[in-house]
Amino acid sequence: MSHNSEGAGYFLYHSIGLYPGKEEAMANAMAEFARVWSAPNDAQWGYVMGKRQAFIDHWRQLINAPEGTLTTCETVTDGLHAIMRALPEGMLRGKRVLVTADCFPSLHFLLAGLAPRMGFRLDTVPLSEGRPWVETADFIDRWGPDVGLALLTWVTSIASARMDHAALVAHGRDMGSLIAVDITQAAGLLPFDARDPAVDFVLSTSLKWLCGAPGAGIIHADATLLPELQPEARGWFSQENPFSWDLDAFSYAPDIRRFDTGTPPSVAALASLPGLEWMLAQDRAAIIAHNRRLVERIIARADDLGLPLHSPREAERRGGAVMMRLPDAERAAALVADMRQHGYGMDARGPVLRLSPGIVTQESAVDAVFDRMRESLSG
Ligand SMILES: Cc1ncc(COP(=O)(O)O)c(C=O)c1O
Repeated sequence: MSHNSEGAGYFLYHSIGLYPGKEEAMANAMAEFARVWSAPNDAQWGYVMGKRQAFIDHWRQLINAPEGTLTTCETVTDGLHAIMRALPEGMLRGKRVLVTADCFPSLHFLLAGLAPRMGFRLDTVPLSEGRPWVETADFIDRWGPDVGLALLTWVTSIASARMDHAALVAHGRDMGSLIAVDITQAAGLLPFDARDPAVDFVLSTSLKWLCGAPGAGIIHADATLLPELQPEARGWFSQENPFSWDLDAFSYAPDIRRFDTGTPPSVAALASLPGLEWMLAQDRAAIIAHNRRLVERIIARADDLGLPLHSPREAERRGGAVMMRLPDAERAAALVADMRQHGYGMDARGPVLRLSPGIVTQESAVDAVFDRMRESLSG
């Protein structure tokens, strides 16, 4: 059976999400944008800002963020940068910023560069003994009252591992630390509530399970914190009224708009809106159940082949992806290339094969992939 049409053999939701009709919906949205933007009238801004707001409102609904607490950013890295540079001057001086070794590397690069400038020590909790992820208890052990800010990775990109979010947040509250959460890897698939348990910052992109476009990132900041935040990059759109142009009268908007700077970049949000709308209209439980069923099948077949699992075995400790180790990086690369030729989409990081089945992926493709893998690994 061939799986190269309609994405039946697509296992790359940890990278880019697909849903039925994505191409057409996105093309329509972009064509409408082009039409409005090119019309000889003054309807452009009302349209673009309305769509951007719809993007923001869908995201707010998704993570239960109150009005005025969520805005766009280009990338998660940019969003974290904006947050770090908005914290009250000196707040992190002499403190630790706590991260895990399996956080998204880009965020580690950013924080390592900010540490000497902002006077904090970046403390990276190593992977737990014998595991390609950090266990909740190991992270909590390192989390003392001198931690000014902790960055939690809700689901990791290297092992699809999920720590005990509620336990971490409860501990972080006791320590008096700020808590930022990167929800990129499972946003739109697994339910996430920014207020239960309440965290200070949430960051994500829209292009994975939410099936959006690159450049459509978001930041959410807790409403009670917002008045204290002074984004370093500030501009006319950081104000309550962007048209307040008195050079001596700049003032931050009272809400998250203070993180907006110049003319809001909106095209990525417009391109992502159809995916968000589609995902929010679905039966989430059915989408999760489909993912879980296919992942369980993948794990069973990987066990049969004797491939060591590189993700937690318990479903509730995983995101939507599952990883397994192949004998070496060369074989993994060759396998991915062979699968691509046969219409199956997956990827590898070194010897670790990553598979994320989503809405368009069919269960029969799992067996087809593993039948092929068995042949190719024995050859
Ligand atoms: C956990 C996680 N965070 C963040 C990102 C993306 O970060 P950025 O938008 O800065 O490229 C990814 C992308 O794969 C990711 O897996």
